[in-house]
Amino acid sequence: MSNRFLFMFATNIQRWGYQHVLKPFFFRCDPEWTHDQVCEVGERFGRSRLARGMAQKLCAFQDDSLHQEILGIHFSNPIGLTEGFDKNARLTQILPSIGFGYEIVGSVTAQACKGNAKPRLWRLPKSKGLVVYYGLMNDGGEAIRSRLSTKTFAMPIGISIAKTNCPGTVETQSGIEDYVQGFTTMRDTGDFFVINISCPNAFGGEPFSDPKRLEALLSRLDGIETSKPIFIKSAVDLTIEELDALIAVMDRHRVHGIILSNLTKQYGRREIVQDEIQPHMKGGISGRPTYEASNTLIAHTYLEAGDRYVIIGVGGVFTAEDAYEKIRQGASLVQLATGMIFEGPQLIGELNRGLAQLLHRDGFNSISEVVGSAHRS
Ligand SMILES: Cc1cc2nc3c(=O)[nH]c(=O)nc-3n(C[C@H](O)[C@H](O)[C@H](O)COP(=O)(O)O)c2cc1C
Repeated sequence: MSNRFLFMFATNIQRWGYQHVLKPFFFRCDPEWTHDQVCEVGERFGRSRLARGMAQKLCAFQDDSLHQEILGIHFSNPIGLTEGFDKNARLTQILPSIGFGYEIVGSVTAQACKGNAKPRLWRLPKSKGLVVYYGLMNDGGEAIRSRLSTKTFAMPIGISIAKTNCPGTVETQSGIEDYVQGFTTMRDTGDFFVINISCPNAFGGEPFSDPKRLEALLSRLDGIETSKPIFIKSAVDLTIEELDALIAVMDRHRVHGIILSNLTKQYGRREIVQDEIQPHMKGGISGRPTYEASNTLIAHTYLEAGDRYVIIGVGGVFTAEDAYEKIRQGASLVQLATGMIFEGPQLIGELNRGLAQLLHRDGFNSISEVVGSAHRS
């Protein structure tokens, strides 16, 4: 049996099993409990060479056309696990075997943080989204650094740094020092950094999405020695003027890329099926409701600043066509969480296989040729 045929056969069986057995069970259980169990199992599988080998054979899709060299880092494919799924860096060993090309761990904060009170995660099946109110729950920089320090990685690892979610970091200066402590703790870990300025669920809101405060934060980070690339994670609910203001600040500092984008706080978005929203739900919404808005930001950033910044596109990727569109609009890499929760882990291989087919269909030889192609005649 050829490898490609085995891959197709295996992913079809996995898709059926996920849709008809696992997902109905998972979607009847508490969302946070389910997420914790999946991370537990993923961590265990990651420790077993046999499990990793089996997953690699059955799930991962490889094709030379998907390889890219970006900011000196080699990506074997453009599909990554987005911030928030692997908050405590427990899945780094299993993800490459499932077929991911990279992951971003975190968001990590300087101090360990229990996050907001439960419940803090809800599903919106009809809207194909999640309401997320974790509030930056994570084990903290020291614990995550030491967990990562004992491992080697088969794919690039990004580290997302956020401000500890507590009243003590609400003032601008204490907030900056908290970012600095998180950044310094994680400095020797991973391949690139993300500065998350757009968590919608923390004490004091998102103060560093304000250009003046962001200017102060980035000036302070400029002074910390590192040779690794730095990305900014942007909010999705931005006007084009606000996005331009953000890019203008980035232009004055050591920033190499931008991640577009985070959860939406706009509950009135037309993609959100309103009867799913319950009064007790609070937080940002992921998934399909963020898809179009993130694509608009990607397209604008690519046209205005694509020569200066690497763009990572995220928000509502459920199919290879969705990922391909983000790349056509200007993203060099794409990442996701909600799509995998709704469709199953075999989605990652399916996305990569679909991307290879789509790029060849359109006469390209490699994925990097697709980046921004929607804007070329
Ligand atoms: C459960 C969950 C937790 C998240 N936590 C974080 C986080 O800690 N930091 C961050 O920058 N984004 C976080 N996000 C946002 C995602 O990284 C991503 O921007 C957003 O979910 C859109 O992608 P998706 O539609 O593929 O899920 C979280 C998302 C989810 C679903």
